[in-house]
Amino acid sequence: MAFNNSTVAAGSGDSIALSRQSKAVSGCMDRCEHGSPIGLSDKVTLVLLPPLAALLFSPSGTTWAQVTTEHPFIEPQDIRSETCLTCHPDKKEGKFVHSAVTLGCERCHHAASENGTTTITPVAAGGELCAMCHKAKNDPVLHGPYKNGQCMICHDAHMSNFRRQARAEANTLCLSCHGVNQPDVKIDEDAQVVSMLGGRTVSFADYRQAPKIGLDRGGTRGHPVTGHPVAGKDPRQKGTTLSCLSCHVPHSSAIPKLLPHDAKSETGLCAECHKQGE
Ligand code: HEC
Ligand code: HEC
Ligand code: HEC
Ligand code: HEC
Ligand code: HEC
Ligand code: HEC
Ligand code: HEC
Repeated sequence: MAFNNSTVAAGSGDSIALSRQSKAVSGCMDRCEHGSPIGLSDKVTLVLLPPLAALLFSPSGTTWAQVTTEHPFIEPQDIRSETCLTCHPDKKEGKFVHSAVTLGCERCHHAASENGTTTITPVAAGGELCAMCHKAKNDPVLHGPYKNGQCMICHDAHMSNFRRQARAEANTLCLSCHGVNQPDVKIDEDAQVVSMLGGRTVSFADYRQAPKIGLDRGGTRGHPVTGHPVAGKDPRQKGTTLSCLSCHVPHSSAIPKLLPHDAKSETGLCAECHKQGE
């Protein structure tokens, strides 16, 4: 199964498709005249991953790979991760750095310098980019944003201070779509877009499709049954906290409502923390 990234291309998923073309900031007249063809110079170590070709010829509309990007000029021989990091050091800083970043920027960004212009394009769009290394799950129950390849709503592609490069603590992450009156969620009904999690955008239609759960004012109790805590201590294991992820998985499951596979059923889940009759 492949992630459907049509929503991303339409602008309702991650905001990665917007860029402009412009001239290089620094000139290089002589080098530009005999600039080497993209990817063929032995000094340029670019790894073109197979999906690139597929995407360039993809009939499915706009992909990131087709858009040219404004970028300061980099000499062709300097196109490598170490150079990238001199200007973008933040991509490798943070408590949790994605292993793919350690493998090299070129795994996801195709950089080429030609005619005095450096263009940086993604090697694949939306969820297809992640699917190059993370096989899409094919369980009976697939979470909407996972199925749509909107990985970057919940994850930072580079690094984060939250585990699994998540953009926030679990409850903040989930309540952005499933809670009401979240302070950092801005609904723009005129533009039909909702922004959340540090500027990620989803279409109003996607947002509305996410079922809302009712919690008390503090946002810590009230689901899945009246008065039930969604924060505090998880009784199953000492030192762990109760959160949406105590009872749900974020991507896919064999059973409805994204309950964990091993819970087998809703009552099986309750029994993990509540002995019978308790
Ligand atoms: C000389 C400094 C410099 C170097 C070297 C550099 N960048 Fe950039 N990069 C910038 C600036 C400035 C911007 C535009 C401002 C911004 O978005 O941060 C930018 C923007 C970007 C963007 C966003 C593009 C857009 O406008 O949508 C990407 C992706 C990127 N750089 C990747 C890379 C990669 C990959 C490398 C290594 C091949 C690299 N950069 C090397 C300075 C640099
Ligand atoms: C696993 C894939 C992946 C790798 C590896 C990767 N990037 Fe990115 N990068 C992305 C994606 C996807 C975006 C689009 C922004 C978004 O939606 O988060 C992006 C955006 C950017 C941007 C512009 C937007 C921003 O977040 O500032 C810069 C700059 C950038 N990357 C630099 C780098 C550099 C430098 C490296 C190597 C040290 C690197 N990236 C490695 C996937 C990757
Ligand atoms: C070039 C290959 C590659 C690409 C592309 C890639 N990843 Fe990864 N990713 C890895 C590797 C390698 C690991 C570490 C392997 C492991 O721990 O199982 C990893 C681990 C992760 C983890 C777990 C981190 C942790 O702390 O355990 C997350 C989350 C993740 N990737 C998300 C993404 C997302 C989202 C994308 C798309 C933007 C993506 N990856 C694209 C190679 C990649
Ligand atoms: C709704 C938010 C959300 C979306 C959308 C999402 N993830 Fe995740 N992902 C998470 C959370 C939360 C975790 C950590 C789960 C845990 O620790 O129990 C995670 C964990 C991971 C991991 C670590 C290994 C694992 O499976 O636990 C990888 C890899 C990963 N995600 C990749 C992806 C990719 C690729 C996509 C898009 C196709 C994606 N994620 C979409 C929230 C999300
Ligand atoms: C103690 C376990 C537990 C915790 C913690 C929990 N859930 Fe649930 N959740 C369930 C169960 C069981 C169901 C299925 C029964 C139901 O729909 O009420 C469910 C259903 C849902 C549904 C589907 C509702 C519908 O109308 O289809 C959503 C959305 C949801 N949970 C989100 C969350 C979020 C967000 C959090 C964290 C703030 C969370 N859950 C925490 C057990 C839990
Ligand atoms: C970007 C918005 C978004 C975020 C963030 C998000 N969800 Fe969802 N979620 C949806 C949408 C849309 C649906 C309805 C489509 C579907 O069934 O997947 C949904 C459905 C669900 C359901 C019901 C699934 C069913 O079988 O009926 C549960 C449970 C759920 N989400 C839990 C979570 C949890 C836990 C998190 C945090 C890890 C989370 N969601 C984060 C958009 C989101
Ligand atoms: C991950 C652990 C966990 C799971 C799974 C879980 N609970 Fe709980 N439940 C708790 C904790 C912790 C409390 C609070 C106990 C306390 O206050 O002493 C609680 C309290 C309750 C209460 C009392 C609420 C109140 O008003 O005080 C009920 C009823 C309840 N759970 C039912 C359920 C049902 C039904 C399920 C299955 C759908 C379930 N629980 C699944 C951890 C869990």
